[in-house]
Amino acid sequence: MKKTIFITGGAGFIGSHVVRLFVTKYPTYRIINIDKLTYAGNLENLKDIENESNYLFEKADIVDANVINNLFAKYKPDGVIHLAAESHVDRSISNPTEFIYTNIVGTVNLLNAARLIWEDNLQDKRFYHISTDEVYGSLGNEGLFTEETAYDPKSPYSAAKASSDHLVRAYNHTFKLPVVISNCSNNYGPNHFPEKLIPLAINNIKNMKPIPIYGKGENVRDWLYVIDHARAIDVIFHNGRDGETYNIGGNNEWTNIDLIKTLCDVMDKKLDRAPGTSASLITFVKDRAGHDLRYAIDSTKLMTNLGWKPSLQFEEGLEKTVDWYLTNEEWLKNIVSGNYQEYYKDMYGSR
Ligand code: NAD
Ligand code: DAU
Repeated sequence: MKKTIFITGGAGFIGSHVVRLFVTKYPTYRIINIDKLTYAGNLENLKDIENESNYLFEKADIVDANVINNLFAKYKPDGVIHLAAESHVDRSISNPTEFIYTNIVGTVNLLNAARLIWEDNLQDKRFYHISTDEVYGSLGNEGLFTEETAYDPKSPYSAAKASSDHLVRAYNHTFKLPVVISNCSNNYGPNHFPEKLIPLAINNIKNMKPIPIYGKGENVRDWLYVIDHARAIDVIFHNGRDGETYNIGGNNEWTNIDLIKTLCDVMDKKLDRAPGTSASLITFVKDRAGHDLRYAIDSTKLMTNLGWKPSLQFEEGLEKTVDWYLTNEEWLKNIVSGNYQEYYKDMYGSR
């Protein structure tokens, strides 16, 4: 094997696509997926590649420094692609503490472990921290987030991610740890946990349940197909410059209400329903506390310097996503039949 790469959070939504891409594209790499398997981690996401000879899974909590140090000593990775995190803004509002442990302490544990085994030889080593555009805060109606935008996180989730970004940069500055960071906009696509807007709406539309839209649905997000994010991660991991930050976005802004109306039209067609059937489920509910108005990313640096660009138009990606959820009924059923029911009731007041 040419290289050993740790991918943390590889059983989650984005992580599973990154693991699949690396396992299949780089047969000479040994890919080790380190994941605690929280409610969001699901090994079903990796069924198709779990028996590949260059893939290994280690169930571990990144908050446990001893466990993490032992894994680094055992495998001596050349690179780390760090995705493990608590990722849902609403959960960070109801239970912020978990976000501090995983997103901040967990990141520091990984940085310390990498420092320890790499200290004698930093040659060809790389710690790649995957972050979010939410660290930049909220935009008004104009403008885009660039890599120079000042950090201004507004939720416990984004504050914890911002904190981890600062720590990664501090380890680069102070200890010369070779790091790279990317900050991405909203992802969508297969394997997305149905607590997030698009898969939650798909599941509710399928079951003729109300689609909860926070406030007036005027908040704007910039949506990127998850496989395009995984492709960007591949390019940045291999060709990004040490110590640099790259923004990743879809150049694809939608208000929540327009996005959901478009999704409803797609679902009506796929489910052979009369036009307007799914849209009749749209229900405006109490707004998220501190709800960021608008995110939009300027990915010029990544596109110009590293030659990446999104491969899919949104309409095509949305249709592929709906097809995936309608085909993978079992995957969805397994998730929504467990603790999800309790979560949904606490969050939205009914099942
Ligand atoms: P996810 O919630 O789907 O998956 C997170 C994964 O991390 C799960 O497999 C979970 O089991 C694992 N995990 C959580 N806590 C852990 C711990 N203490 N130890 C080990 N593993 C743990 O998240 P996602 O949407 O795939 O996001 C992945 C990363 O990308 C996160 O760092 C997130 O901040 C970032 N990000 C996400 C988006 C998005 O739109 N989803 C956009 C930009 C950046
Ligand atoms: O921008 C990147 C971020 O995108 C990632 O860092 C986060 O991990 C990821 O969860 C996502 O955060 P958002 O809060 O933007 O995603 P979410 O799907 O939760 O919400 C998208 C928008 O839809 C947001 O404006 C809130 C709104 N919404 C969400 C839900 C779950 C609703 O109106 N109703 C809902 O039921």
